[in-house]
Amino acid sequence: MNVSRLLITIDGPAGSGKSTTAREVARVLGLAHLDSGALYRALTLALLRTGTPEEEWEGLEAGTLEDLDIALEPREGGFEVLLEGESVGPELRSFEVTRGVSRLAGVAAVRRRLIDLQRSVAEEVGIVADGRDMGTVIFPHAHLKVFLTASLAERARRRLLQEARPADPAGVREEIERIRQRDEADAGREIAPLRRPPDAIEIDTTSLTFEEQVGRIVLEARRRVAEGLTGEDCAG
Ligand code: DC
Repeated sequence: MNVSRLLITIDGPAGSGKSTTAREVARVLGLAHLDSGALYRALTLALLRTGTPEEEWEGLEAGTLEDLDIALEPREGGFEVLLEGESVGPELRSFEVTRGVSRLAGVAAVRRRLIDLQRSVAEEVGIVADGRDMGTVIFPHAHLKVFLTASLAERARRRLLQEARPADPAGVREEIERIRQRDEADAGREIAPLRRPPDAIEIDTTSLTFEEQVGRIVLEARRRVAEGLTGEDCAG
């Protein structure tokens, strides 16, 4: 197994730094980054745009979801999510999308809608995929599975900094509550709940620098390749 065909999964709760870590690990190892959360966000945005009331999301049928035109376009370093062939960019992180996405991500038909799309990108290139069910459901045979955690307070602080919002004690308290609710929704849902894959390495990043957490994953990936611990076939 060559490093360039590695399949690495990084799962963890909201604000644990998965996406930034996954992007940097992918860059260092020359792999493509797949941000699976962006797909759930894109479907949320698509439904908000069509004006489908949130109360109807649970009952959405596979056919309706298939009709939502969502694609992953290879780009430098990873993939861009396209809706109706167009780039959506910062809208994916809007307040409305962030508020609605956990609810949509709990709908079984929605998760099924995204399975093949996610697996298909790993057929051609090595990837670092981040999300909630990458190592448990989407890529159970990944060469390396990582589960990232950090304390609630640290995750809240990071999220505020990332979004350039004030990280004063009151702001942090509010954000902690928001993250706690999302954790509950992600881990408590019936379908593909957030779980640490039993064969994942767990990294608590609360007191690690960004470079340290990226370094640990890169080191482990290289060690597995060097020691031939990756097997040959990993897709899906
Ligand atoms: O990582 P994020 O904040 O962009 O994720 C957005 C939402 O999508 C979050 O509520 C969890 C959900 N999600 C999921 O259920 N499964 C994934 N693989 C990725 C994200």
